Amino acid sequence: TNIDKGGYKHFMAKEIAEQPTVSTEVLNHYIRRNEIVLPDAGLDFTAINRLTMVACGTAFYACYVAKYWFEQVAGIPVEIDVASEFRYREPPITDGTVALFVSQSGETADTLAALRYCAGKADKIVAAVNSTESSIARESDLVLPILAGVEVGVASTKAFTNQLMTLAVLALEAARQRGRLNDEQLAERIAALRSLPGLMNSALTIESRCEALALKLAEAKDILFLGRGIMYPLALEGALKLKEISYIHAEAYASGELKHGPIALVDKHVPVIVMAPRDGLFDKTISNMQEVMARGGRVLLISDAKGIEEAGDGVWESLVMPEVDPFLSPVLYALPAQMLAYYTAVAKGTDVDQPRNLAKSVTVE
Ligand code: G6P
Repeated sequence: TNIDKGGYKHFMAKEIAEQPTVSTEVLNHYIRRNEIVLPDAGLDFTAINRLTMVACGTAFYACYVAKYWFEQVAGIPVEIDVASEFRYREPPITDGTVALFVSQSGETADTLAALRYCAGKADKIVAAVNSTESSIARESDLVLPILAGVEVGVASTKAFTNQLMTLAVLALEAARQRGRLNDEQLAERIAALRSLPGLMNSALTIESRCEALALKLAEAKDILFLGRGIMYPLALEGALKLKEISYIHAEAYASGELKHGPIALVDKHVPVIVMAPRDGLFDKTISNMQEVMARGGRVLLISDAKGIEEAGDGVWESLVMPEVDPFLSPVLYALPAQMLAYYTAVAKGTDVDQPRNLAKSVTVE
């Protein structure tokens, strides 16, 4: 394919901007009217005892978010791991296990090896991939294309959000089959999913705010990301994105874990990015945020307008997001995480699309 930057300065910027479009495409692929449509070989979620999800890098964080969905919405026990650990730790694959591998390229060596470990042991091997002609796709029983289109930037953006969209649809289908969602509840969830591309468009309008904040972040040596519950994996993804392309040391913690060590790192030089949509854990996240501020930490709070108001005074900076169904907040909050990383890298003058030491697809161990 002949692919260009379409007027953007970097592929990454173009790919961030494409998310409302490609997420619409993946929704149209898996949802017709109010019905979820999976490929023929389908999946019987009533027979599943355990879902094992394995991936590397950003795709692993998509699995991490999806773990919360499958557990909370579908009631399925979920195990997740990075492929390089999974493949060697000899995990027992018990009866009724479905193994799901997530990979943009479909060629990541560790993920493929993890898949081969499960072949013949798991009831079914499922792959959520962008490249449907890939090795991982070929060796799976069921392939779920994520339909993000070609992704050039080494730091994954639109593939991540389309992995999430695909996994969200799958979790809803699992919940439906297991009788955990009635027709009305399913329709509500689907409507929420369908509202995401529009919300992404609104989220993209805070781009210039992200650019301004990035100038400040670019001066930091260390940055912390905090999130709780389903936002914890997003904090991990935010930190990964930032370190990949800006080379600033960034770490993510589950907000509640902060007191068990990482709070020792907090001082006025360390920006702390708190991802706090107004979900069931909002108050807890905010009290963790206040512990940070009490120690002089500079907090950048990402929430919706009401959340920022409720959080009160004292934050260093804030980013106002559209309101979103808490179930889907990780998908929407991926955008500010990407834009902050992108503009911080631009401010530092790094090679955004081809960061040092990294490859788009890691086909050797
Ligand atoms: C590389 C890329 C990451 C990506 C990871 C997994 O490390 O730089 O952006 O998340 O591989 O790639 P995959 O193609 O399996 O999703």
